[in-house]
Amino acid sequence: MGRAALNGFMGDPAEAGAAIFLGDCTEVIARNIPAQYVNMIVTSPPYADQRSGNYGGIHPDRYVEWFLPKARAFKDCLAPDGSFVLNIKEKAVGGEKHPYVYDLVLALRREQDWRLVDEYCWHKRNCYPGKWPNRFRDSWERLYHFALSPKFKMRQEEVMVPMGDWREKRLASLSDTDMLRDESRHGNGFGKRVENWVGRDMAYPTNVLHMATECGHKGHPAAFPKALPEWFIRLFTDEGDTVLDPFAGSGTTLIAAIGLGRKAIGIDTQAEYCEAMRSAVRALS
Ligand SMILES: C[S@@+](CC[C@H](N)C(=O)[O-])C[C@H]1O[C@@H](n2cnc3c(N)ncnc32)[C@H](O)[C@@H]1O
Repeated sequence: MGRAALNGFMGDPAEAGAAIFLGDCTEVIARNIPAQYVNMIVTSPPYADQRSGNYGGIHPDRYVEWFLPKARAFKDCLAPDGSFVLNIKEKAVGGEKHPYVYDLVLALRREQDWRLVDEYCWHKRNCYPGKWPNRFRDSWERLYHFALSPKFKMRQEEVMVPMGDWREKRLASLSDTDMLRDESRHGNGFGKRVENWVGRDMAYPTNVLHMATECGHKGHPAAFPKALPEWFIRLFTDEGDTVLDPFAGSGTTLIAAIGLGRKAIGIDTQAEYCEAMRSAVRALS
């Protein structure tokens, strides 16, 4: 898989370009993954102690100190033009949102020089209703995009979206000022500007991703939908690149990466999830 060899595959290395490791991600990375080996990290760690009944948890007050050594390991194994996409969410404690996510983002910048490039919003299209005494149901989650340098790999054309009916709607609601201003500035009329849009079928997306929460493979209480890592993998890697999910759970990221012709590395502390990952990867070949 790439430049240097990975140590200690769990399972058959012939498995469709995937390596699966059982253990704590800090230790696994230090032991097995060479420096600058991976092109991208996309992951969803435990949201503090939200799922402590399933795979343990970390009290929000201790989350930053728990996470920082892991982020240091991520930095060591990431290529200089690589990206780290972190899907994470706050948790309410005592009737208010605990600020551990904000604290973590600040600490990553301050203590490890991660560049915070952008924040994406995953809007969960199919959120069901609920009732809470002091807030409404969350129907979105954050994804932070961190990089190590200003010159990270980004393939914006890979995630373009159909233009839709935007241009027709926009044209229907043009104000007189719009037209006057454009005509007076350029002298050659507003029509020329409109043509710039009329010829185009595709536009760049926004940083709000509308995706349902469904995931194809069950057996994990907190799996994200394959479409989520897929979108970021297309945006921040090329075919043949290596994608790491250090909190891989059921292996959604690995399945997405392999499906897109990338290599994948998954790490999890739970043997049953590693086993599920292995089965899911095997099923692809
Ligand atoms: C939110 S889940 C990830 C779910 C995954 N995105 C999916 O689609 O299935 C977080 C995972 O991190 C794992 N985990 C917790 N601490 C870990 C650690 N120190 N190193 C590696 N994995 C860990 C848990 O066992 C859990 O499966």
